[in-house]
Amino acid sequence: MKSQDGLVVITGASEGIGRATAARFAAEGHDLLLVARSGDRLASLADDLRSAHGIVCGVLVADVRDAAALRPALTAALQRRPIAAAVVNAGIGLYGPFARSAWTDIENLLRTNFDGAFATASAVLPLLLAQRGGSLVFISSIIGKRALPYNAAYCATKQGLLGLADALRLEARPYGVHVGVVCPARTDTPFFDRMTYAVPQTTRRNVPTNPPEMVAAAVLRCVRRRRREIVVSTAGKLFAFVGWHFPRLSDYLLYRNVPRPDKP
Ligand SMILES: NC(=O)c1ccc[n+]([C@@H]2O[C@H](COP(=O)([O-])OP(=O)(O)OC[C@H]3O[C@@H](n4cnc5c(N)ncnc54)[C@H](OP(=O)(O)O)[C@@H]3O)[C@@H](O)[C@H]2O)c1
Repeated sequence: MKSQDGLVVITGASEGIGRATAARFAAEGHDLLLVARSGDRLASLADDLRSAHGIVCGVLVADVRDAAALRPALTAALQRRPIAAAVVNAGIGLYGPFARSAWTDIENLLRTNFDGAFATASAVLPLLLAQRGGSLVFISSIIGKRALPYNAAYCATKQGLLGLADALRLEARPYGVHVGVVCPARTDTPFFDRMTYAVPQTTRRNVPTNPPEMVAAAVLRCVRRRRREIVVSTAGKLFAFVGWHFPRLSDYLLYRNVPRPDKP
């Protein structure tokens, strides 16, 4: 099966990167299954994509934290349909010193970014293996490759996806299934307005910001070229490169440059 054949399922498709990714794959002629909690936003996006591109676009209103409901619903929706790709994208943020973050907020983050990704992958991967083709793509982050202070739990969830993908890539290879990761740098989406702030973020860093369409193009490239990993943007690549090859320099630069929301 060629990767451009078949349906693309995207979690977190109602906003931001997921929405832009849906539009990108629709423009390539893929049928879609859009997953998120906001039924109204998904329905209106699906209408737009159907009329603009003449594709079949289904909607699954689901909370990725609820594995018991999500897994059978995904399996049922995807059964007996060739799947080109599953994009494991739904995610939320949590900013603030770890020691001052409420456990309920940390738990919610872990359940969304981690459990939600695991539940999605565990529902879709058996279908990909059975059809012997297709892609599973995780949306991590450049701060999953080099963690930032005051984003500890978030970075840990995104680093966890890299480990999951590394192992699954090798498990899936004999079946002809591709597993990839896309690591966006800061992207202009509602993410930062929707994330939980354990303490106010008084000073914002002046960080280069990319449009979500740039991430969507990277996801398409990851699927089409069966790429192992794509770090989005030159600044993102530089950040990850310094973090990996020069960890002490990276520590120093982050210690000096990331504004501290609290005083020791
Ligand atoms: N924006 C950035 O700078 C950036 C950088 C690197 C990585 N990322 C990652 O990229 C992914 C998408 O982020 P984004 O910037 O597009 O954020 P966004 O605009 O806030 O969109 C997040 C999407 O996830 C969905 N979602 C959140 N919680 C969910 C849940 N419990 N169940 C189902 N869907 C849920 C939301 O839909 P509903 O609320 O309708 O459910 C929404 O569609 C995330 O994994 C994020 O960590 C973002």
